[in-house]
Amino acid sequence: MNADRTDPAVLREAIAAELQTARDRTAALTDCVDDRDLTAQHSPLMSPLVWDLAHVGNQEELWLLRNVGGHDPMHPEIDPLYDAFEHSRAERPGLPLLPPDEARRYAHEVRGRVFDLLEASPLEGAPLLDAGFAFGMIAQHEQQHDETMLITHQLRQGAAVLAAPPPPAAADRLPAEVLVPAGPFIMGTDTEPWALDNERPAHQVDLPAFRLDTAPVTNAAYQEFIADGGYLDPRWWTAEGWTHRMQAGLSAPLFWSRDGGQWLRRRFGTVEPVPPDEPVLHVSWYEADAYARWAGRRLPTEAEWEKAARYDPATERSRRYPWGDQEPSAEHANLGQRHLQPAPAGSYPAGAAPCGARQLIGDVWEWTASDFLPYPGFTAWPYKEYSEVFFGPEYKVLRGGSFAVAPVACRGTFRNWDYPVRRQIFSGFRTARDAEDA
Ligand SMILES: [Fe+2]
Repeated sequence: MNADRTDPAVLREAIAAELQTARDRTAALTDCVDDRDLTAQHSPLMSPLVWDLAHVGNQEELWLLRNVGGHDPMHPEIDPLYDAFEHSRAERPGLPLLPPDEARRYAHEVRGRVFDLLEASPLEGAPLLDAGFAFGMIAQHEQQHDETMLITHQLRQGAAVLAAPPPPAAADRLPAEVLVPAGPFIMGTDTEPWALDNERPAHQVDLPAFRLDTAPVTNAAYQEFIADGGYLDPRWWTAEGWTHRMQAGLSAPLFWSRDGGQWLRRRFGTVEPVPPDEPVLHVSWYEADAYARWAGRRLPTEAEWEKAARYDPATERSRRYPWGDQEPSAEHANLGQRHLQPAPAGSYPAGAAPCGARQLIGDVWEWTASDFLPYPGFTAWPYKEYSEVFFGPEYKVLRGGSFAVAPVACRGTFRNWDYPVRRQIFSGFRTARDAEDA
């Protein structure tokens, strides 16, 4: 969202556009498969697509129509079916879910009433309304489920149903790493109007100098780790990581297979050779961490990642995005499912950070060394289940968004978190090292 949307008419239009963009994407992800596919569970890790479809409508009804608009529930009997905390993903196919047509009709009806509410709303005067926060939260929520649905598509067996042009090719030859000098910077935000509770408040963090990979680790580099026996040597793995690697039988990123002398991967229903220059995708935190140790390096902390992405030494302030404060465009970053894969490492020169790092936003979610913890002075808002219940050492933070993340749900302060074993997500990483010499 642009900072200059102080005129309610402009803000209203921007909110309507974000809601529509999210709904168009939801439709694109669910209209391309038949009802059998929509109601099937493609992996125990995921909900059936038809659950996501009605859940986005249900959350929109709950937050916008009921909490903001004061409306009565439209169908109170379905609320428990779509409460993400009431039923695990594995249980959801067994629930009496709305069939696809009814789920679409319900979400459509909610949206019609939301547009009426938006038209009449002053978009100020209450914390949920200020700067259209609740509307922004709902647009982000739907886009996050669109990313989840894209993961379901990746796990789904069968012929390809999605298509997109390839991302732009990288042309530049870049140094392997960049230097981020020592010193304090402001992490998190007090001013980003649609930032979620875990991104707040802004606070100063002082870091020693460090060096960071200019771009995410590539498939070619990761293949060297495999070829060097990285998966066979417990030296590179944490104790839990090694136990998991043995139990799960990990030997390569998810969706990879070996065909004679080359690695293949399955990507949204198409099997193809693994492209060497592309950032590695579908690796767990344990694999990322093991690779970093093998390379004589480490994963960056979350604070290091954010300083590299946001800190501008010329002005001594933190930017909204690596390239500045402007909204992401197609020149800046690979976002919004514009492409169905990451761009080659070193792409997007217009999206470079002041330190010179590329692709911090978009392409692949980047695992960091950090546990998901609250910032000093954290307050849960607008509900504890958004972040607070997840704080703790069992989740690792990912930063920067992937090609599957919409611009509205991505910014320099945005934090994602997941279990260190997860790899069906669009996860990659880059590595860092201390720079005692700097
Ligand atoms: Fe949700």
